Amino acid sequence: MPQPILIANWKMNLSLKELENLANDFKKELGGIQDKDIIICPSTVSLITMAGLIGDSYLQLGAQNVFWQDSGAYTGETSPMILKEIGCRYVIVGHSERRQYLNETDEMVNKKVQACLANNLMPILCIGETRETRQEGQTDNVLHRQLISGLDSVNLIDQEQLIIAYEPTWAIGSGLIADPEEVERVFALIRQTLVNLYPLTIVNNNVRIIYGGSVDASNIAGFSEIELLAGFLVGGASLEVGKFKEIVKFL
Ligand code: 13P
Repeated sequence: MPQPILIANWKMNLSLKELENLANDFKKELGGIQDKDIIICPSTVSLITMAGLIGDSYLQLGAQNVFWQDSGAYTGETSPMILKEIGCRYVIVGHSERRQYLNETDEMVNKKVQACLANNLMPILCIGETRETRQEGQTDNVLHRQLISGLDSVNLIDQEQLIIAYEPTWAIGSGLIADPEEVERVFALIRQTLVNLYPLTIVNNNVRIIYGGSVDASNIAGFSEIELLAGFLVGGASLEVGKFKEIVKFL
């Protein structure tokens, strides 16, 4: 089992100066931690600056999005090859905000996962149901579809690592947290789907399943019983180093 992972998704927040200050705070407070993977995912335009700022710490860099081709006539898109080149190791793929506002489909998400692995980047594949889906009793079907489609033709081999982030969309930025018992049930479902796709050793050694959605110091204790939980994907509470540090300490 790889070590726990904590991912700070700063989304499209903060000015460049504020991003730099926050990166420096992270480096000071968390930059020496080696027994957990701590990933900062700042906005795309700040990635090169951030790479320079955190390069001499144990913090690692992640992108919030990527395109599925290395180069070509794709105006406005970001090449996985260049992400790798500037020092990114992780990429958030299929975040619900991109599925909702940018119409990202399961097919696009799948191409991005494949492009990440081809470029030696670790995809953080986000899946999650909407409130309506849950009310209609379709949660398991939707999660299964997102997972199966997102991993279509993805053959995890050797050292290739994958992170599955379960983020119910209704929990994101809402202050509502999913019931830990339900998260545990969903994690078991995710793991079973993975076991059907990959050899057990690969699932055990190369895949981490994490939770995201309004995670902060006040509610993480409820997750301590979840055996399969390998980390958190954190939005709002990652914008202040003190709040994020509480989450890091917990895991
Ligand atoms: P919040 O922690 O702000 O709910 O955001 C979660 C998220 O979307 C992380 O990717």
